[in-house]
Amino acid sequence: MKILFLTHSFNSLAQRLFVELTRHGHEISIEFDINDAVAIQAVEMYQPTIIIAPFLKRAIPETIWRRQPCFIVHPGIIGDRGPSALDWAMMHGYQQWGVTVLQANGEMDAGDIWASELFPMQLMKKSSLYRHEVVQAAVQAVLTAVQHFQSENFKPLPLDYTRPDVLGRLHHPIRQKDRAINWWKDSTHTILKKIYAADGFPGVLDTLYRKPYYLFDACVEGTLRGNTPGEIIAKRNGAICRATIDSAIWIGQLKRKMVGKSSYKLSAELALKDHLAKVPEVPLDPFSACLGETYRDIWYERKHDVGYLHFAFYNGAMDAAQCERLRKAYLAAARSDVRVIVLMGGADFWSNGIHLNHIEHADSPADESWRNINAMNDLVCAILTTRSQLTIAALQGNAGAGGVFLSLAADYIYTRESVILNPHYKSMGNLYGSEYWTYLLPRRVGEIQAKTITQKRLPIGAPEARNLGLIDDCFALNQANFKKKIEQLAEALAINQDYSVLLENKVCQREKDEQKKPLATYRAEELSRMQLNFYGFDPSYHVARYHFVHKISHAWTPLYLARHRRIRES
Ligand code: COA
Repeated sequence: MKILFLTHSFNSLAQRLFVELTRHGHEISIEFDINDAVAIQAVEMYQPTIIIAPFLKRAIPETIWRRQPCFIVHPGIIGDRGPSALDWAMMHGYQQWGVTVLQANGEMDAGDIWASELFPMQLMKKSSLYRHEVVQAAVQAVLTAVQHFQSENFKPLPLDYTRPDVLGRLHHPIRQKDRAINWWKDSTHTILKKIYAADGFPGVLDTLYRKPYYLFDACVEGTLRGNTPGEIIAKRNGAICRATIDSAIWIGQLKRKMVGKSSYKLSAELALKDHLAKVPEVPLDPFSACLGETYRDIWYERKHDVGYLHFAFYNGAMDAAQCERLRKAYLAAARSDVRVIVLMGGADFWSNGIHLNHIEHADSPADESWRNINAMNDLVCAILTTRSQLTIAALQGNAGAGGVFLSLAADYIYTRESVILNPHYKSMGNLYGSEYWTYLLPRRVGEIQAKTITQKRLPIGAPEARNLGLIDDCFALNQANFKKKIEQLAEALAINQDYSVLLENKVCQREKDEQKKPLATYRAEELSRMQLNFYGFDPSYHVARYHFVHKISHAWTPLYLARHRRIRES
């Protein structure tokens, strides 16, 4: 079937649906929802059988839904209507929630129901819930809806609030006053729930040093305590710790509320850098056993002969300091006597490469980009040149741009089956990219595929990545099962009777490759192109980064996504 996605952006859900529907043999074209005229034009050009709206911020024009079946993916159970569906479900503490695929009509979220799925709710960030449970349920519901549409005899269900199984209701959009924290009354649990229900958008509006900030990325502190609720009592690796009435809570990210100006998220310490001189830094060694709940973005665990290095950076963005801390932790692990090192990334993201927000904030974004990419390269190089261990990259979450190439530095790459990879840089203002990708990508998929992947700029699903040879294998949709399987693989590798041969082969291969073309040459060649991106006459990268960080809406759909426009132009 020809399917048109009408979507606000090509976000993680739209990317996953694109991959899954393509795998099921459908042809997908994408149009960003810019205005009615452009949407109507796209439908006329493509003539799709159905339209799917994975992520829309406004209603579909009547001229479209009257002519063509339009499936809206709503992140709520049957009967739930209105914006902030997930936010309300989390604030109410529901145990179960769902996704419904309904047909667009004249009333918002009230059309006939083609499919729905349920999932259990847990106390977690809304963004994590969206990226995992919601995306998974949405994929299932959309595939069912498409199947129902193709079967002649399926009749979609009209919304009927008299039915006892229709439990959702119409709700009003959530406001900041519904989310507000009362530091003198709210327990840590309540504060956590409020911040979780607003992460990663829009955050909970609060006041710090008499200025308004949105709070994100909360986590409970088990030991530190303060006298005044709300006061900042500690800082660690970019995060701040605030006292509560019953314990304390860490805040990792802040976004300043500006009047008439957009702003963006920064690590809390960077956002408040003029105020925190007297706040004590409370370091935590990644290698120390953590006895209670606290904030840590890098930590290490050892089991038998395997070392597991976790790095859970917010949104998978890695600034120069984070890259350097991770490299140091990696080298320390490599100096130990473990036989296998597993690079675990974080639960939400593996890595999305250099930290575009922190670069944007720097006095000289060009210099900061340079510093950041070099720190990333140093990290990749450390992994790539490891002679004393076999290494595994275990991707629990998605990876993009330099983050994908970071994973390719490991000897073995395994991902969850749901993972989406974007191994390309070009969409960021024609960024050339580094992280030794010109060595790592062809080494895995060959020169021709490497060119296709980087030029096409499309998301790649884990099974497709495995077929291409980009990764070794993918398994387990569920995080706990994935970790269990990774442990089994790592343990088996560590005690493999051919372990020494495998290690020797890898070292020999690296030496051969080095003789053919030194890593330093790959790096220098890539960086000479990056230097032009950062310091040259063409400002495309700086413009694209500004648009990305400030979340400026698209003015058109790029041709690599809008197949219908490509056909016309060629
Ligand atoms: N630096 C800073 N923030 C980043 C980031 C980066 N490299 N990559 C992603 N993010 C942030 C996004 O701004 C977004 O922030 P939000 O929480 O405020 O909404 C969040 O991470 C999730 O990203 P989003 O784009 O919504 O996720 P996605 O799954 O829809 O798309 C990518 C994934 C990787 C395609 C997309 O995030 C991307 O293009 N990132 C930039 C990658 C890049 O060019 N890196 C630099 C070169 S190495």
